[in-house]
Amino acid sequence: MSLDTTAHNRRMTHFDGHESVWLFGYGSLIWKADFDYLERRPASIRGWTRRFWQGSHDHRGTPDAPGRVVTLVPEEGATCHGMAYRISPALFAQLDHREKNGYLRVVTEMRFDDGTAREGVVYLAGEDNEAYLGPAAERDIARQIADSHGPSGPNRDYLLNLAAALRELGFGDAHVFSLERELLTLAPT
Ligand code: SIN
Repeated sequence: MSLDTTAHNRRMTHFDGHESVWLFGYGSLIWKADFDYLERRPASIRGWTRRFWQGSHDHRGTPDAPGRVVTLVPEEGATCHGMAYRISPALFAQLDHREKNGYLRVVTEMRFDDGTAREGVVYLAGEDNEAYLGPAAERDIARQIADSHGPSGPNRDYLLNLAAALRELGFGDAHVFSLERELLTLAPT
């Protein structure tokens, strides 16, 4: 998979003709909703877990010194909580650009608090993308986050904002909260 996934994502036809599409956000899309949406609701998807295993060359790091941001990793029995947005399909051009560093639009089923479910889209950075970093010791991930900066700002803000947003929504995430604790023991560079 090439590094810039924009062209690949533009070829998705699954929701052609739909007036609106549900988008599931689990990372910055939870706390940085700087796009027009029609409606938003807390939601979850099953079989996936959130991990700081994706490199960020364009937002929270650089190609030479990538930061770390979240992607989803398959895990049987896992539930990932996040925020669902009902959007106009026209918005995908903007979102594909924002998520271009390795993320592909993938069709998924998301569940809402009232027990209903909808098919929609999630941006997922698989392990075959060039920016993928994969697992590392939490201390090392926290250190990399503490040291990384990119055009969208310090990598630490991404982690701290995500942890705060999950807490506010009442969602647990042991990986995110443990990285937050590690980060707060480290001096920013
Ligand atoms: C998402 O938030 O759903 C995708 C990853 C990110 O943009 O942080």
